Amino acid sequence: MNVSDSERISAILDKLKYKKASDINGADLVLVNMCSVRQSAVDRVHGLVQKFRKLQTTRHKLQTILTGCILEKDRKKFINSFDYVIDIKDIKNLSQFLDNHFFQKLRHGVISERSDARQNSYLDIAPRYSSKFSANVPIMTGCNNFCAYCVVPYTRDREVSRPAKEIISEIKNLIKKGYKEIWLLGQNVNSYHGTWDIKHKTKQIGFADLLRTIDNIPGNFWIRFTSSHPKDFSDKLIKAMARRKHITPYLNLPVQSGDNKVLKSMNRHYSVAQYKNTIKKLRKQIPDISLSTDIIIGFPGETKKQFENTAELFHKIKFDMAYINKYSPRAGTAAEKLKDDVSITEKKRREKVLTKILKQTALEKNKMLVGKKTIVLIEEKKNDFWIGKNEQYKTVKIISNKNLLGKFVRVKITEAMAFALKGTLINEK
Ligand code: 5AD
Ligand code: SF4
Repeated sequence: MNVSDSERISAILDKLKYKKASDINGADLVLVNMCSVRQSAVDRVHGLVQKFRKLQTTRHKLQTILTGCILEKDRKKFINSFDYVIDIKDIKNLSQFLDNHFFQKLRHGVISERSDARQNSYLDIAPRYSSKFSANVPIMTGCNNFCAYCVVPYTRDREVSRPAKEIISEIKNLIKKGYKEIWLLGQNVNSYHGTWDIKHKTKQIGFADLLRTIDNIPGNFWIRFTSSHPKDFSDKLIKAMARRKHITPYLNLPVQSGDNKVLKSMNRHYSVAQYKNTIKKLRKQIPDISLSTDIIIGFPGETKKQFENTAELFHKIKFDMAYINKYSPRAGTAAEKLKDDVSITEKKRREKVLTKILKQTALEKNKMLVGKKTIVLIEEKKNDFWIGKNEQYKTVKIISNKNLLGKFVRVKITEAMAFALKGTLINEK
């Protein structure tokens, strides 16, 4: 989502005739689009501030702006380190502050603003897509769920969905331009609630309907989406994914913990059994689906036994990929009031245990793909390899002397590793 927001910021700067500097030393403006989901990301911004301070001693005209997901507590600290702090939802006002005359006035007293501007109005800015074949299309932003550990409802406020018409016209345009992969983005795409105008009547549509409508657009492209909340993963949505033309058989469904008590204190509103049941239905209706998840280890009060339940879930489900995060206390969240009582050593141990299981199960599953054919969208060339992701969002590497960048290719898989596959090129699709 932050990458996608940066694409909108770039578009604003383009309009103001800013040019990308080759490096920070040659820049007149540095804009930091920050993330607050874990403290490590915030610490990185503190590190950058030191660098900017040094630069500003010799380069007086260097302007620094902070935007993105910012916690109130950090905003207060960063106000003195940046020339300007602007909420991502107010980013449309950026041009006003970059007006030199206005900026000079600002310099006399640093201003930080929180406006009541409609939160998602910035999403209607036409972005400058950073790729020529894969595009991020936000469909909603914000979140109403208030998971006990999470900053998103505070930094991005409540959920707001983009009108379906706007989303569909953006996607049709991208397909016309030859884009091959469309990522539908939102903090919780399942709770998308948009409007759709049909014959002068405004209809409410949910995510499954939106997905089906996009899937019916003709063309040679893939649809992916993230993020999903297990509590909102409806049968209707599974059906929409199963009847796919363009939707890829890949899903990131963050479970966060494999223990019911921990899930309850995380305020997740589903049980391990309900999660397993959703996975069962998905696998029945989409047999080739690959699954990834997000995990938080060491949530306050998580006992060794409770962690073992997460390990057990990993053995049972056999995820293709997992993003494992050590719990990081966040100011203002409900969990901040709980004691962060799992030591860093124990968090690291638990992370290692899960990674080991994940490596085994992912390798086991990838080995079953050897000898099979797959379609890959090539994203980059590194050393001798063209590297891309297949429909199941698995990394695939091939050797070829043709230029395959941004192309769909048919590949025969020859070798399996835990988190990547090697193959030989059959042909371009
Ligand atoms: N500490 C650790 N991980 C977190 N995440 C969100 N908040 C925290 C936190 N306070 C993780 C969750 C989420 C992913 C985007 O980041 O696993 O799914
Ligand atoms: Fe954060 Fe996702 Fe929970 Fe919303 S649903 S509070 S974005 S973890």
